Amino acid sequence: MSRILLGVSGGIAAYKALELVRLATAAGHAVRVVQTPASRRFVGEASFAALTGAPVLLSEFERDPARGAFPDQQPPEHEPLSHLELVANAHVYLIAPASANTIAKLAGGLADNLLTSCALAASCPLIVAPAMNSSMYEHPATRANLVTLRGRGVRIVEPDTGRLASKGEQGIGRLAEPARLLAACEEALAGGPATTGSLRGVKVLVTAGGTREAIDSVRYIGNSSSGRMGLALAQAAQARGAEVTLIAANVALPAPMGVHVRHVVSAAELQDACAEEFPRCEILLMAAAVADFRPAAAQDGKIKKSEREGLELQLEPTADVLSGLSAGRRDGQTLLGFAAEHGERAVQSAREKLAAKGLDAIVVNDISREDIGFDTEANEVTILSAPRAGSPGGELHVPRASKAEVAEAILDAAERLRASG
Ligand code: CTP
Repeated sequence: MSRILLGVSGGIAAYKALELVRLATAAGHAVRVVQTPASRRFVGEASFAALTGAPVLLSEFERDPARGAFPDQQPPEHEPLSHLELVANAHVYLIAPASANTIAKLAGGLADNLLTSCALAASCPLIVAPAMNSSMYEHPATRANLVTLRGRGVRIVEPDTGRLASKGEQGIGRLAEPARLLAACEEALAGGPATTGSLRGVKVLVTAGGTREAIDSVRYIGNSSSGRMGLALAQAAQARGAEVTLIAANVALPAPMGVHVRHVVSAAELQDACAEEFPRCEILLMAAAVADFRPAAAQDGKIKKSEREGLELQLEPTADVLSGLSAGRRDGQTLLGFAAEHGERAVQSAREKLAAKGLDAIVVNDISREDIGFDTEANEVTILSAPRAGSPGGELHVPRASKAEVAEAILDAAERLRASG
């Protein structure tokens, strides 16, 4: 049995916290609740007390009849000295719903009520589930506060998109469903992927997606990269506290909140954007699939089939963007490339690219397999690192996993390389 401390702040979504308590207690967890005064306008403490079987606390100054004990514990014989006994006993602390105001207080380190005091005192994993109107959620202040919290290792359960509480309003900001909140608690309890601050303040540049090279004004030569791997890298780096810039080539999927995004279309545009962003970055993760050739001259307008028997395209090479960046690198920069290779020679060929492009590591995946890689949810990669003075090059196989998990392994490798200079 695990002990979940639930902090409920003011918002219409507080009613969903009741359902979370029901699910969590049914799953065998012991739950206690602290509420902010504003949350009582939406759900009264009697409901939480009935569902948890334990008193609900609202202020630092009131007596806890259970003396800080969870329903699975015997209350101590003596009155605990601190009102924070409750959070000291918790295995995980979830704040749901977390209003914009509460998130701002958490980011600023304020402790002006029991809920925020518990957050400051918590040594267990802290999970924050925002819920608010979409304009408030998308306000730069809220976005910055969430980036701050992530950078400190707080786990954020992203809100859902859909109908909001105010009549007729749609958008992002709905509190995640109770089942997702419980899953986040259980993941944290199991020591699942943690958001650590290990890249706090580090500038990470990620390229993602696939470039398109114009044939005429409507047609292009492209590739099937969806950008998922690059997005997963951007999200994971941001969760570790990095300041992330994402150069996205034709990526249709939404970018993670708080990441600075630049959209590009062609290899030449990607090259220009990289040239601007690379000098200030400390880690480069070059996941974009960049065209190696482009039509020598894109036609103005649309090529008409009635005007020709057949069509021959004259292609010219594009610049190798990564090699160019590597040639101008400065001390303190860590460069990782990606190589999509076919079949048996995959690792050998990637090792040659690693050396030729002057990289610290290259992440290789075998594109002859259909279950991983391009435009799929999963990946399986080998991370090859360059030989360094006194140590031969390394080779780390990351077995098939979600792109989010593979991203964590790649960032771990990048951090190791960065630490070893
Ligand atoms: N890359 C690049 N510019 C290019 C082509 C590739 O910056 N014009 C980068 C990719 O983003 C990737 C790495 O180089 O990080 C390796 O890409 P890959 O396509 O596997 O290698 P190429 O050098 O293009 O070689 P080939 O396609 O012939 O295997």
